[in-house]
Amino acid sequence: MNTVVTASHLARHYEVGGGMFRKPGTVRALSEASFTIEAGKTLAVVGESGCGKSTLARLVTLIEEPTAGDLTIDGITATPDNWDKLRQSVQIVFQDPYGSLNLRHRVGAILEEPLKINRPKMSAKERQEKAREMMALVGLRPEHYDRFPHMFSGGQRQRIAVARALMLEPKLLVLDEPVSALDLSIQSQVLNLLLDLQERLDLAYLFISHDLSVVRHVADDVVVMYLGRPVEFGTKDSVFGHPRHPYTKALLSATPSTEPNPEKKRIKLEGELPSPLAIPEGCPFAPRCWKAQDKCRAERPELMGEPHPAACWFPE
Ligand SMILES: Nc1ncnc2c1ncn2[C@@H]1O[C@H](COP(=O)(O)OP(=O)(O)O)[C@@H](O)[C@H]1O
Ligand SMILES: [Mg+2]
Repeated sequence: MNTVVTASHLARHYEVGGGMFRKPGTVRALSEASFTIEAGKTLAVVGESGCGKSTLARLVTLIEEPTAGDLTIDGITATPDNWDKLRQSVQIVFQDPYGSLNLRHRVGAILEEPLKINRPKMSAKERQEKAREMMALVGLRPEHYDRFPHMFSGGQRQRIAVARALMLEPKLLVLDEPVSALDLSIQSQVLNLLLDLQERLDLAYLFISHDLSVVRHVADDVVVMYLGRPVEFGTKDSVFGHPRHPYTKALLSATPSTEPNPEKKRIKLEGELPSPLAIPEGCPFAPRCWKAQDKCRAERPELMGEPHPAACWFPE
């Protein structure tokens, strides 16, 4: 096994100033995120909007520095000295390729830009060859080389974004809701492309999604996040087959499954997601949990237990 990423107790907190309607304080966007990802494997990160998924993505791709914790990529622990070099091994694809592609450039130039910046010895001819090779790999046609992003459909634009992310031959791709903006029929094409590329190139994926049916399709391991913290972590089969945290149960109950299951009841979560500026004492999920006891409101549970860890005092 070849470990590509090790995250250990990663955290990112933001100090925010006061305004007319809010007090100054600390936004605990992410705390205590620990995991590893092997080459060729996918770790999926799931959870509601605001639970810290994109913050984790920015830390793992070295776009932002963690407030605490360590990140080791391909055997090298990130420090300010090796930051720029390590960054080439981790690339990101966002939900909205319109926001991330330079719309004034042609596809060829978009793909060659990372080489221009990071491979100064490469000739223009070599760059073009590499760009054309990558276009073929992601299913774009040779004549697309001279076209602008607006001339493509959403799915094809996402292929361009994936191709660009692969130009520097990264070990890890972070995919932040990569198909959430696409029509259902196009989603599976892009997901299948990603699975195919993973196998060919032995890529590690950190796959972020709020959509559990997508996660079921692509994940090897799953981490469930709530209010900036992992609350359940295990193999896909274990987490989907034996969810232990009540929050995971609630998420799964809201997802249509392929097998009909008459016993499955939809669990409706009461109450609102608390603000990460004011994370409740004790278990952060307690205010919305139907099983919560006094202990839950007083003491925060760590990830623990079998067959895979969950941060709950009274797991399933
Ligand atoms: N630069 C920032 N300054 C202050 N708060 C932030 C910043 N970035 C993210 N947050 C807050 O951190 C929390 C997690 O955000 P994010 O990681 O984007 O969640 P997700 O991607 O799961 O929707 C949110 O409450 C968000 O408002
Ligand atoms: Mg996000």
